[in-house]
Amino acid sequence: MNILVAYFSHSGNTREIAGQIQAITGGDIFEIQSQKPYPKDYDAVVEQARIELDSGYIPVSKAKIKNIEKYETVIIGYPNWWATIPAPVKTFLSEYDFSGKSIAPFCTHEGSGLGRSVTDISKLCAGTKMLEGLEIRGSGVKNAQSKVSEWLRKIKLTK
Ligand SMILES: Cc1cc2nc3c(=O)[nH]c(=O)nc-3n(C[C@H](O)[C@H](O)[C@H](O)COP(=O)(O)O)c2cc1C
Repeated sequence: MNILVAYFSHSGNTREIAGQIQAITGGDIFEIQSQKPYPKDYDAVVEQARIELDSGYIPVSKAKIKNIEKYETVIIGYPNWWATIPAPVKTFLSEYDFSGKSIAPFCTHEGSGLGRSVTDISKLCAGTKMLEGLEIRGSGVKNAQSKVSEWLRKIKLTK
């Protein structure tokens, strides 16, 4: 099974979950990043993300995946930003053709769960099979192993 674990993380929570998923699935891992990094300051990034969302901004990606064709399943992770996907994830989803692939979304958040992110991902990925999503509290990522492995078992992505 060819699995790609692609994630965006600003403060590390989603990166932690992506690592756990990679360890269980044995998939390849890819960090989604923009050419221009986000400010570290929380209030500044919250404000920037709001402006980006309102204006429909699509940032330029820092790196590209070479052989996206070889993956059958893309597990995609992100923090919930204003109830949806951060702009760099929009860029990622717009850059490749995911038709015929399965997409398994996961997010970390502080209360809003997946928000409307799954609906928004579906809109950007025509012709894909959307698998059930996973949501994890950002403050609980270190203790999320059992929830993560249960989810992967349920959607049949364990090794
Ligand atoms: C710009 C921004 C917007 C956010 N919006 C939400 C939100 O709408 N709902 C929510 O539950 N958490 C929200 N959060 C909290 C993050 O989703 C949460 O802290 C997440 O675990 C951060 O993941 P990361 O460490 O991988 O960047 C927001 C955080 C940021 C920085």
